[in-house]
Amino acid sequence: MSYENLLVAREGAVATVTVNRPNVLNALNAQTVDELRRAALALKVDPAVRVVVFTGAGEKSFVAGADITEFIGQTPGEGRDLAVRGQHVFGIIEGMGKPTIAAINGFALGGGCELAMACTFRIAADTARLGQPEINLGIIPGYGGTQRLARLVGPDRALDLILTGRHVPAAEALAIGLVTRVVAAADLVAEVTTFAQTLASKAPIAMRYALEAVHRGLDTTLVEGSAIEATLFGLVSATDDMREGTRAFVEKRTPAFTGT
Ligand code: COA
Repeated sequence: MSYENLLVAREGAVATVTVNRPNVLNALNAQTVDELRRAALALKVDPAVRVVVFTGAGEKSFVAGADITEFIGQTPGEGRDLAVRGQHVFGIIEGMGKPTIAAINGFALGGGCELAMACTFRIAADTARLGQPEINLGIIPGYGGTQRLARLVGPDRALDLILTGRHVPAAEALAIGLVTRVVAAADLVAEVTTFAQTLASKAPIAMRYALEAVHRGLDTTLVEGSAIEATLFGLVSATDDMREGTRAFVEKRTPAFTGT
């Protein structure tokens, strides 16, 4: 599959998707959003891919937001369509059924912060800056930012970022729970690679069900969420990987999971 604005690389079971528009700090124009949709769908259904990393090209930026030049002159209907398309694509990324990691190598603003929040984990370089600066353009986040940010950091901290539009340094992003971990910029690729390989060694079906239990559980009551968990716990008991994992423990060896 070919892309104009993405680089997609594979190393073992880890795929890396790099947004590649460094001249505009990897801003997401409509074509890039559509390419992200195609890439995410292809990687979702590829059983050989167990973990997907999203990052940005160049030293300076992960993704500096939606491409602002495409907003100028947009009608209300076009604005709504744009938001729905972006939300759809980030929903696909969140629902890939395998862990995703945002390797935040610089600015993660607007749609960049929203892309990072759609990932399972956010590992940020200590030089990264995150935020939802849309208010400074007279707009609001439209790719899920108002929803995922509030769920991640709570409504008051989310509104602090959304209403001021300020950029948050990586250390503060960690303190408020917006990122999972902060590492030295020079170590970002190595740290993300090690983490991705660790995740890739786990049982894929159990990973998928764990992701599903947490995500579906967050949208419902504790009682409903627990019922979802119990059903998925039952289903995972039918897998070869469950037998392999438990047998390997008893036999004091490392399990070899096959994804069946
Ligand atoms: N959309 C379109 N172009 C963008 C962009 C975006 N979201 N973010 C950056 N660019 C472009 C700039 O226009 C500039 O292009 P130019 O070289 O043709 O002038 C280039 O990327 C480099 O950006 P620049 O602003 O010169 O870099 P900087 O280091 O001075 O500032 C930022 C970096 C991230 C603070 C600044 O680019 C910025 O505020 N970007 C917009 C962030 C934003 O509001 N995102 C939410 C959009 S909804």
